[in-house]
Amino acid sequence: MTKTKEIEIGYVIEVSGDRAVVELTVDTTSPLEGDYYPGQPGSHIKIPFRELNIIGIVARIRQLDITPSTKPNQEVAGETVSKKVAECLLIGTLSDKGQFGRGVAVYPNVGQKVKMVGTEELKEIFSEFISQDFSFATLAQSESQRAFLHVDRFFGRHIAILGTTGCGKSCTVASILQKTIDKYPYAHILVIDLHGEYATAFPENTLLIEADKVELPYWLLNFEEFQDLAVDINEFTARNQITGLRDALLQARQKTDDSEKLGLGNAVTVDSPIYFDLKEMLQQIRGLNTQMVPGTKVEKQGPLYGVFDRFLIRFDSKINDPRFRFMFSPTRYSGNASLPQLLSEHLSINTSKEMTIIDLSGIPFEAVGVVVSVVSRIVYEFNFWNPKRSEFPILMVFEEAHNYIPNRPEAKFSAAKTAVERLAKEGRKYGIGVIVVSQRPKELSETVISQCNTFIAMRLTNPDDQNYVRRLVPDSLAGLMEMLPSLRTGEALILGDSVVMPTRVLIDLPCPEPRSSDVKFAENWAKDIKNLDVDHIVKRWRARRKDL
Ligand SMILES: Nc1ncnc2c1ncn2[C@@H]1O[C@H](COP(=O)(O)OP(=O)(O)O)[C@@H](O)[C@H]1O
Ligand SMILES: [Mg+2]
Repeated sequence: MTKTKEIEIGYVIEVSGDRAVVELTVDTTSPLEGDYYPGQPGSHIKIPFRELNIIGIVARIRQLDITPSTKPNQEVAGETVSKKVAECLLIGTLSDKGQFGRGVAVYPNVGQKVKMVGTEELKEIFSEFISQDFSFATLAQSESQRAFLHVDRFFGRHIAILGTTGCGKSCTVASILQKTIDKYPYAHILVIDLHGEYATAFPENTLLIEADKVELPYWLLNFEEFQDLAVDINEFTARNQITGLRDALLQARQKTDDSEKLGLGNAVTVDSPIYFDLKEMLQQIRGLNTQMVPGTKVEKQGPLYGVFDRFLIRFDSKINDPRFRFMFSPTRYSGNASLPQLLSEHLSINTSKEMTIIDLSGIPFEAVGVVVSVVSRIVYEFNFWNPKRSEFPILMVFEEAHNYIPNRPEAKFSAAKTAVERLAKEGRKYGIGVIVVSQRPKELSETVISQCNTFIAMRLTNPDDQNYVRRLVPDSLAGLMEMLPSLRTGEALILGDSVVMPTRVLIDLPCPEPRSSDVKFAENWAKDIKNLDVDHIVKRWRARRKDL
């Protein structure tokens, strides 16, 4: 191992569990080497012990003012002395051969010397994954040093990117994905882009399904998704509606099986991705809703008479709503033969693209849950039935995920929650990795977040969310979370198996950047906007077309 300058910065004054408190004996306000400020939260320290070096990371630094108590016969108290103490988490050991290992087998003792970790040593520590040659960030404490990740562990075991609005989450996603498609020409990535931000960041190699071109035909919906869309479970007749819907849906699908000679027979279920005639299915439900049956003397109302009144009003209003055209009036995917086409486009198969972005900014909010559910489910089912799934890993990105996979039970998101939770729990087995992005981790499905193995924790100001994230990470690292409120934009703590050790990093700014939601008020209010065509805006609005 290359010897670097051994610079002593203090000594251990307390050890408890995997924490050590270090009194710093050097000036903390000037750098010792490069950008190494002793005691800077996120920076590394080492404590030589026998032939090993115990490596720690600074979680917190403070100044302690100590006034010696007066001794008997002494009138004036001694002079107050200030001590700078840093709380460090002991995270691993570096052998004399430069091998870094997680966890500490031996603990330091009070009085032991503490040294800075030099740039060369850092390089050695972080070189563990250097052969993977995959990096989208530099170490915050040494910007010339890249943080490398273990690619399979990173994508294969799910990633959570958490942080307050404006802390740089979308830029982080863009940076990760840009690096990925640059390096891996046969990647398969599907991005659920809630606000239409990502198109600008990926001018090439990406299939963009624009807001007004999104098409997810109703016949791909499974029973639960139809239910989320049309049944209000608070209604008195909800149970009967559900039963009626199930029967009608199954019959409609079976009918297509017969007429198109798909020959599936008993294999057709209420959830099968088979085209059917929606009008006919609704006609059947309308029939049940007005059915009269023979009574003892005169005809009487059938068992489901009137049960579907509200159901039908809700359904009809959606079918007639132009915002739901993407679902109920499919033009491209309007038959069974179009399913392979839809899958190829969404999963970048034979499209010479590596990524598909679905811009959901034009989808009515009440349909977002169902759309997310359908998309997640088709990805899951695809690899579930794909005999070559181990050679076909897929990454799915869920932006602003708390909006549609909330932590609370909510009827209109139940299908989305089921689908994404299943991806998070079982995706690994089928070669599907997930990135969830959220500014409100506490409101995001706990099942999904607890399945994530890599956390990219960015600036987080809400105390509830901070506490929540603290609980998600191993106890020994909870102390690091104290840094969260003070991280700079684009700065993050990366924790998990895919990094050598918990690391404070500065994410590369993506190039080009996603369209940020940060609007420049000052700049724009300082000048007059010329030629704003209000008629044009109204026209686009009325036609619901952004391409006009
Ligand atoms: N890694 C970074 N380095 C420098 N600036 C950044 C970085 N990431 C984001 N920013 C800035 O912060 C702004 C907001 O970033 P964005 O990714 O949209 O945040 P979020 O998605 O968390 O709301 C961007 O316009 C960008 O200029
Ligand atoms: Mg964002």
